[in-house]
Amino acid sequence: MSDLIQLGAVNERPKAPRGEDLQLKFSEKAIAQLDALKAHYPEEKACILPGLWIAQREYGGTLTAEAIAEVAHRLHRSYAEVEGVATFYSMYNTAHAVGAHMIEVCTCLSCHVCGAYRVADYLKEKLGVGFGETTPDGLFTLHEVECLNACDRAPLLQVGDQYYGPVGPAEIDALLEKLRTSPPTVTQLADEIVKVHLKAEEPR
Ligand code: FES
Repeated sequence: MSDLIQLGAVNERPKAPRGEDLQLKFSEKAIAQLDALKAHYPEEKACILPGLWIAQREYGGTLTAEAIAEVAHRLHRSYAEVEGVATFYSMYNTAHAVGAHMIEVCTCLSCHVCGAYRVADYLKEKLGVGFGETTPDGLFTLHEVECLNACDRAPLLQVGDQYYGPVGPAEIDALLEKLRTSPPTVTQLADEIVKVHLKAEEPR
């Protein structure tokens, strides 16, 4: 079978949970934040993006079908509409479950020239996983990303809301050691973005 036929035929998106199976997991804090956001828009649809960030934090860093369904339920939207938004943006983790820390390796031109694939190979070797995979202990997920707009620091990594670069083996070793004992940066990042949304909506 050709790649083209496979691309058109395979649909690996998880099925939406049925309404009666939906188990709501948002914390009181999450519900209060979503309510605060709703109050600032003329319609609930406008809260889909920040609602998904709240869900990404509340569900441990991954937008599962249940997480998407909860956002749809709380904003009175269809599952298809919210899933369409979530899967459009690469910063929402919808493709697979992620670990506590997502290490994003820029392999675009400047980083490529400065050794991004040597960095990627070193990380793959150290962690024992490839791009798009998570270590068995659930700590690290490795991702390949496009230009992070800090080419002067090539080769560059992003973890949570921090950039690290230029990096080589010594910097990577130190970073991994630090992350092993750090709170999950995946949910920290989601929380920071929720706070930015809430601040942006505060009356001036
Ligand atoms: S090419 Fe890597 S940050 Fe621009």
